[in-house]
Amino acid sequence: MRWTEKYRPKDFKDIIGNGKQKKEVEAWVKNWKEGNPQQCLLLVGPAGTGKTTFAHVIAKEFSDSIELNASDKRSYDIIMNTVGESATTKSFFTTDNEHKLIILDEVDGIHGNDDRGGTRAIGKIIKESVHPIVMTANDFYSKRLTTIKTKCKVVKIGKIHTNSVNALLKRICFKEKIKADPQAIKELAKRSNGDMRSALNTLQVIADDSKKLTLDDLESVSQKDNTNNIFDSVRRVLKSKSIDKVKNSLRLDEDPTFVMEYIAENIPREYEKPEEIKKAYEMISQADLYFGRAQQSRNYTYWRYASEFMGVGVAISKDETYKKFTRLTGAMAFALMGRTRGKRDLRDRIALKMSEKLHMSNSVAISMFPYMEIMFENDDLAWDISNYLLLEDDEIKRFRKRKIPKSVVTRKEKEREEELAIERAKYKNSFNENIQTSPGTLAFDSNSNEELNESDEVINSSKSTKSSKPRKSEKEKINDKTSKDSEEEKQSKEESREEESREKSKEEKSKEEKSKEVKKDNAQKSLFNFWSENNKWI
Ligand SMILES: Nc1ncnc2c1ncn2[C@@H]1O[C@H](COP(=O)(O)OP(=O)(O)OP(=O)(O)O)[C@@H](O)[C@H]1O
Ligand SMILES: [Mg+2]
Repeated sequence: MRWTEKYRPKDFKDIIGNGKQKKEVEAWVKNWKEGNPQQCLLLVGPAGTGKTTFAHVIAKEFSDSIELNASDKRSYDIIMNTVGESATTKSFFTTDNEHKLIILDEVDGIHGNDDRGGTRAIGKIIKESVHPIVMTANDFYSKRLTTIKTKCKVVKIGKIHTNSVNALLKRICFKEKIKADPQAIKELAKRSNGDMRSALNTLQVIADDSKKLTLDDLESVSQKDNTNNIFDSVRRVLKSKSIDKVKNSLRLDEDPTFVMEYIAENIPREYEKPEEIKKAYEMISQADLYFGRAQQSRNYTYWRYASEFMGVGVAISKDETYKKFTRLTGAMAFALMGRTRGKRDLRDRIALKMSEKLHMSNSVAISMFPYMEIMFENDDLAWDISNYLLLEDDEIKRFRKRKIPKSVVTRKEKEREEELAIERAKYKNSFNENIQTSPGTLAFDSNSNEELNESDEVINSSKSTKSSKPRKSEKEKINDKTSKDSEEEKQSKEESREEESREKSKEEKSKEEKSKEVKKDNAQKSLFNFWSENNKWI
C-alpha cells in the first residue's frame, strides 16, 4: 500500500503544520454544525500539503458527503440533477443540523471548452447551495479562481515546515521499522520543500524493501535525479484531470519519450473502463506520432503537441478520477530507477561537458537534450557536435541510437585533416625561418607562401617514405625513380597527414586547438540557434 494513503491523516489532530489554518477550518465546521451556514471553504496551496486530506477529514464531521470532480463539467449536472435538490434544498436531510458536504477538488483545473461552463456552474452552486462546500486549488492567482474566490472563505494552506516533515518522517520510520540515519531524514525533509507527499513517496521508494535510510540512499534516489518526480508526474497524469497540474508535472529533465512509455505502461493499471483505456492509448499514439515527426522534420514544436497528448490527452481520457490506490512502484519501477540512475550518471557527464564548453549551467544543458536528439539525427551535425564536445561513444548513443555512418566519419575526419593542414601551413609560415629542408627536397623559400606549402608537403612526403610500411617500400622499389609521380605523391601526402595528426606534438596540439575553433563555431552556432529559438519542449 502506498504510504501516502496508509498515513493519510484521519483526523484534524493528525494533520501536521498549518496550525492557524487548521483552527480556521475547525471553526468553520463548528459553525455549520451549530446551524450557522458559512461561505464555501476554498483551500488554496501547493501540492502535497494536505488540502484533499483536509476535505476528507472535514467530510467525516458531517453526516454525509459527496465528492465531485471540479474539472468535469458533469459535476454541475450531478449536483443539480442527480442529487436533485440536494445542492439547493435541505429536503433530504433528516434533521436541520445534519448536512451533506460537497467536495470539489482541484477547482483551478477546469479546462478547455468546459472552462466557462465549469466556472459558471461552480459559481451557481456556490450561490445557491445551502450545503457546506469545500473546494481545493493550487494556484491562488489562477484566472479560473477570480470570481470563485470572491464568494468563498479562502484559507491559504502553506508548505509544511521542515521540522514538522522531519518529525512525521521519524514517526513513520519507527512504525515501518526502518533503520534511518537522522541526518538522512533531516535532509529528506529539507528536500521535500514542504511537500509531504513527495517526502513520503521518496521514503517509501528508498526504504520499503531495504528497511534502511542513509544519506547515500537519498543521494541515489534524490529528487534531483527526478526519479521521484517521474512517479509524481505519472501519478498526476493518471490521477488528475487538471490541465495545469498535468502540464506542470510534465516539466521534467527526463527524456520525454521515456516518460511517455511509463505513462503508457501504467494506463491499464489505473483506468478501468475499456473506452477510457482505448482513448488514452489513442492519445499516446498521437504523442508518439508527434515525437516521430519532430525527429524526422527537426521541427520540435511537435514536442509540445506530443506532450499535450501524452499528458493532458491521457489525463482527460478518463471520465472521472479513480479513488483507488494504484501501485506504480512495482518491480518494474525499481528497474526503472536503476535505469534512471545509470542514465543520470551519463546525463551528468554530458551536461558537464556541455556546460564547460558552452558556459551554461548543468540544468540548462540538460534541458537542451531533446534538441540534441533532434540535431543528432543529422549525421554531419552529430559528428560536429560530438567532436566539439569530445563526446564518448556511449554519450553519443544517448542522443542517437544509430552509429554515425563510417562514410560520414571518414569524410568528416578528412575534412578536418584538410583544415588542419591549412592551419598547419599558416602556422608554419610564421615560423618559417626555423624550418629545415630534408635531403633531396627543394630548398625552402621563406618568402613564398605557396612554396612553403609545397616544401611542407615534400618534407612530409619524404618523412613518410622513410617510415612507410613494407608494402609501400616495395611499391617504391618498383617506382624507384618515379617517387615524385603525382599519384604516389598524393598517397604519401595523405599518409603523412594521417601520421602527423597521430603524432600530437605540443605544437600540433595547439594548432589543432585553433582548428577546433572552426568546428566549435559550427557546433556552437547550431546548438545556440536551436536553443534560443525554443526554450522548453513543453
Ligand atoms: N499536513 C499533512 N499532514 C500529514 N500528512 C500530510 C499532510 N499533507 C499531506 N500529507 C500526506 O501527503 C498525502 C497527499 O496529501 P494531499 O492529497 O492532501 O495533498 P494536496 O494538498 O491535496 O495536494 P495536491 O495539491 O497535489 O492535490 C497525504 O495522503 C498524506 O499522506
Ligand atoms: Mg489534492
